[in-house]
Amino acid sequence: MSSKLSTFVCQNCGSESSQYFGRCLNCNSWNSIVEEIKSKRSKYQDIKNHKKSIPFNEISSKKISRFTSGFREFDRVLGGGIVPGSVVLLGGEPGIGKSTIVLQSAGKISLNEKVLYITAEESLEQVKIRWERLNQNSNDLQIFAETNLSQIIGEIKRVNPSFAIIDSIQAIHNHEMQSSPGSVSQVRECSSELQNLAKDNNISLLIIGHVTKDGSLAGPKTLEHLVDTVINFEGDNISSHRLLRSIKNRFGSTFEIGIFEMLEEGLREIKNPSSIFTNKENISGVTTTITNEGTRPLAVDIQALVNKTFYSNPRRTTTGISINRLHQILAVIEKHVGIKLSEFDCYIATGGGFEINDPSSDLGVAISILSSLKNIPPLANSSFIGELGLSGQVRKSNNLRTKIEEAVRLGIKNIVVPKLEEELNNNFQNLINIKEISNIKEAVDYSLSK
Ligand code: TYD
Ligand code: MG
Repeated sequence: MSSKLSTFVCQNCGSESSQYFGRCLNCNSWNSIVEEIKSKRSKYQDIKNHKKSIPFNEISSKKISRFTSGFREFDRVLGGGIVPGSVVLLGGEPGIGKSTIVLQSAGKISLNEKVLYITAEESLEQVKIRWERLNQNSNDLQIFAETNLSQIIGEIKRVNPSFAIIDSIQAIHNHEMQSSPGSVSQVRECSSELQNLAKDNNISLLIIGHVTKDGSLAGPKTLEHLVDTVINFEGDNISSHRLLRSIKNRFGSTFEIGIFEMLEEGLREIKNPSSIFTNKENISGVTTTITNEGTRPLAVDIQALVNKTFYSNPRRTTTGISINRLHQILAVIEKHVGIKLSEFDCYIATGGGFEINDPSSDLGVAISILSSLKNIPPLANSSFIGELGLSGQVRKSNNLRTKIEEAVRLGIKNIVVPKLEEELNNNFQNLINIKEISNIKEAVDYSLSK
C-alpha cells in the first residue's frame, strides 16, 4: 500500500472527502477544497511504555496553583489566571493587537516564571522594536523566531518553560506534510503535536490564531475542541477599545470579558468598564441597561432613532444587538402598546457598539424606541432591565441582584425591573429606587410620562 494518502480538505470548515468538489458538501462554500497529502503512518503500533490507569482516590486533590498573566482583566477571562499545562487559543483579526497583549503579558510573567515567546511571523528585531515601545522591563524573556514545527518543539523541550507562546499557528508548518502553512491540516497537525508536548511536560501554551474578516476562525475553528480555552480578541481598528471574550473554558466560566484600551505604549486595562459604555445624559432616545457578561454586570447605553420613513419598507438597522431581536421588540410594542411602527424607520446602537447578548436588554431597547418616537426623555438617572415576552409581559432576568448592585455602584437613582422576590427589594432600600413592573405598558407609563 502506498504510504502517501491524498485527501481533499475544505479550508473553511475542515471537512474531508476523497474527491474534489467545487463546493464543499458540508458548509457550502465555493472553491474552498484543497488537495492535501498526508503521510500514512500508524501512531499506535510502536507504543513501548504503556501507561497504567489508577484508582480515583489515589489522585491528590491539591489545588492547582494558577499563575497570573500580569493583567487582571486577562486573568478574569482565563477563569482566574493561567492553569499550568493548559492550552489556550487566542483568536482575533489581524492587527487587532494579539501580539501586543501577548508580548506585554509575556514580559510580566517572565518576572516570575520561565517564558518562551516563539514568533513565526516577525523577526527578532521587529519584536524587539515592539518590546521597546511597550516599555517592558523584564530581562528574562526568551525569544525564538522560527516557523518549523520540529525546531520549535526541540526548543521548547530544551528551554522547558512554564509558559510558551506560539505567534501564530497559521505561520508554522510541519515539514513532513506537503500542504502549505495555514492550511487546515497543517494547523490541526501542528496544534495537536504542540498540545501533546504541553500536556506531557506541564507547559502552559498560548496559541495565537488569525480570524478571517467574516469572523470565522478559519483553520483554528477546527482546533476549538483540541484546546482547553478559546479566547477571542475583538474590537475595531477605529476605536481604541479592545475586548477579550472567552468562548470556551475548561477552567472557568464562558462569556467572561476583559476590556482594554490600545494606547501608543500598548494595551491598558480598563478598571471601570461601565463608564465607557454609558454617558449619563438624559435625552430622548437613550436609555441605560445593565447586562451580564460572564460573571460581570456591565452598564451599557442603548440609543434609538425613530423617524418617519420615506421607503416602502421601513429601515431597521442595529449595532450591538441582533436585528431579529429588534424586529421582535417592535412587534411587541405594536401589539401591546398599540403604536403603529410600520411607518417609521428605526435605528438602534449600543454605547461603543458593545455587543449585547443578554435578553434582559429588551426593556431598555423598547423604552429608547418609544422615547425617541415620542421625543420625551426617559425617567432621569434610570436604568432598565427585563426581557420582553411575546405577550408583552416583562420576564425575570438572571443575576438581577448583581445588576442592581452595579446600578447602585454607578450612582443610578432609579431602576425598572421585573417583579422581584420581596427579600431582594428590602436589601436595596434607601440605596436605589426600584420600580417593579410586570408588562411593557406599565413600564412605558412609568418611564415616559412628562
Ligand atoms: P498587533 O499586536 O501586531 O496585532 P496582531 O498581532 O493581532 O496582528 O497590533 C498591531 C496594531 O496595534 C497596530 O495597528 C498598531 C497598534 N499598536 C498600538 O497602537 N500601540 C502599541 O503600543 C503597539 C505595539 C501596537
Ligand atoms: Mg501579530
